[in-house]
Amino acid sequence: MSWLFFVKALLSVTIPLYTLWSLFRDKFFKGALDNIPGPPAESFFTGVLDSFFNNHGWDYHKKLAETYGGVMKIKAVFGENELYVFDPKALHHIFLKDQDVYEETPQWIQGNGVVYGEGLLATLGEQHRKQRKMLNPVFSTAHMRDMMPIFYDVTSKLREAMSNRVAEGPKEIDILSWMSRTALELIGESGMGYSFDPLTADAAPHPYSKAAKNLELAWGKLRLSTSYLLPPLSKIGSAKFRRFVIDIIPWKDVHDVRDIVDVLTDTCVKIYDIKTKALAEGDEALAKQIGRGKDIMSILMKANMSASKEDSLTKDELLGQMSSLLYAAIDTTSSALSRTLHILATHQDMQDKLRREIKDAKQEMGGDLPYDQLVALPYLDALCRESLRLHSPVPLVRRIARKDIMLPLSTPIKGVDGREISEIFVPNDTKLTIGIMASNRNPELWGPDAHEFKPERWLNPLPDTLTAAHLPGVYSHLMTFIGGSRACIGFKFSQLEMKVVLLTLIESFRFTLSEKEINWEMVEIVAPVVVGEEVPSLPIVLERIV
Ligand code: HEM
Ligand SMILES: *[C@@H]1O[C@H](CO)[C@@H](O)[C@H](O)[C@H]1NC(C)=O
Ligand SMILES: *[C@@H]1O[C@H](CO)[C@@H](O)[C@H](O)[C@H]1NC(C)=O
Repeated sequence: MSWLFFVKALLSVTIPLYTLWSLFRDKFFKGALDNIPGPPAESFFTGVLDSFFNNHGWDYHKKLAETYGGVMKIKAVFGENELYVFDPKALHHIFLKDQDVYEETPQWIQGNGVVYGEGLLATLGEQHRKQRKMLNPVFSTAHMRDMMPIFYDVTSKLREAMSNRVAEGPKEIDILSWMSRTALELIGESGMGYSFDPLTADAAPHPYSKAAKNLELAWGKLRLSTSYLLPPLSKIGSAKFRRFVIDIIPWKDVHDVRDIVDVLTDTCVKIYDIKTKALAEGDEALAKQIGRGKDIMSILMKANMSASKEDSLTKDELLGQMSSLLYAAIDTTSSALSRTLHILATHQDMQDKLRREIKDAKQEMGGDLPYDQLVALPYLDALCRESLRLHSPVPLVRRIARKDIMLPLSTPIKGVDGREISEIFVPNDTKLTIGIMASNRNPELWGPDAHEFKPERWLNPLPDTLTAAHLPGVYSHLMTFIGGSRACIGFKFSQLEMKVVLLTLIESFRFTLSEKEINWEMVEIVAPVVVGEEVPSLPIVLERIV
């Protein structure tokens, strides 16, 4: 047997195999998006996903944006083509013009449905539209105004507790944990008329708060299974039947999630029952409650009672709203507040400037600032905007195209074949990732200093390139809260919350950096982690100044 025979034998096996493979690949993986440039796959199984969805992905994402511009192809599982988009015109189409085509992914909808119930986070189409119709007015400026006393009440408890912690002198404290507790208590009192946490230094965490913390870890263990099994499985049988199946299968990770979800649900049911009782007893009983009947759920339940039959929501839907609001309000806002305080600890000049602005304004008012005076404080406003621009707590969101559609671009790109592309053919079922952070940091819109933290940019006229781009964001040219019918419903609420908390804290304390090095991790909701540790925290040195 000669070596030639060996080579022939090898070729006669590999050539047909290769051909077969190419056919297979062309059939399943070649597609309309092949001509869109993007980073080369790093592995056949996961494409570029390991780098793309990575806790330390900041530099990778910066490089992607610089290399490929506002739209690129992303190789996902088994070579599937996805899109990564932050071109302004494309965003306009995705979030406004063609928003009915670009849906939330089934993983998002069904995952949220399992955990938070039938609320805004888990519904689509007509049902979602109907829910927004009833909820949007609840988040009006008028109602935000009514919530001011609750906000000041909660933050003064916070100030008291933090003050006690540093009564004997400056001390390092975990700002993240305080901000999470504050965010929970604020959405608790002003959203549900319910107190979760007395905000004292030694208070034991509410079961809700423990469950919510454990959820991410427990859910994370099921990630792969949930993203592939949940969409088909959630269609089988009734809810009761599915619960029965979950109870009998011997799978600990699933039971952990079940137990956590039970705590979240039971908490909402309990609050719901208290509210229903008070509503039945009338306005007087309601006024005696923590939210004085002005909290989001009281308003919502009243709105439901006076709505027409076709507009009204079921009990499950109202419970779903409670659970969704609690979830959506906490980690996002505490991330934003922690980041802003971290920046202020890094830049003492900014902290001093803000403190002076607050002191002057309060002196002029002779006490707590009413809503209009608070939101008009120019430097506080500029700081919040700049923090939310440069450090969007949610850096990426996902969508899926529900039919073939053209996606036009502001800036044409050059295809792999060298030809210019000014609109992209997006086939039905294409998955997209939206670059919230990349849009907020786009130098073509914001100028060459787009990657720098400069609150002053908001005190001067914004660049023409930005205003001409017509970004679809609901909040000051930012994509932080996205846009369209699924834009963050709580964006005004979170603005107010950030401002009241910052005002209260900066007035009373000085924040300085601790020695510990902090990594901000690029996860679904960005979180600070001390280098070498795993559980998120943000140590900062706190000093009382009044
Ligand atoms: C700085 C704080 C916040 C940020 C950065 C933020 C960001 C976002 C983003 C990016 C989305 C869209 C998610 C997607 O469609 O994939 C969203 C949705 C949502 N947010 Fe916020 N959020 C914040 C605070 C809040 C607060 C305080 C509340 C409630 C009081 C809230 C309630 C919601 C709800 C209910 C949705 C789902 C809306 C829908 O699908 O119709 N958020 N938020
Ligand atoms: C909402 O309002 C409708 C119509 O008044 C009513 O039938 C329904 O029971 C209400 N839902 C809840 C959960 O109160
Ligand atoms: C898109 O594809 C799905 C199946 O993946 C199909 O059910 C749906 O009808 C398609 N939509 C259109 C508009 O063709």
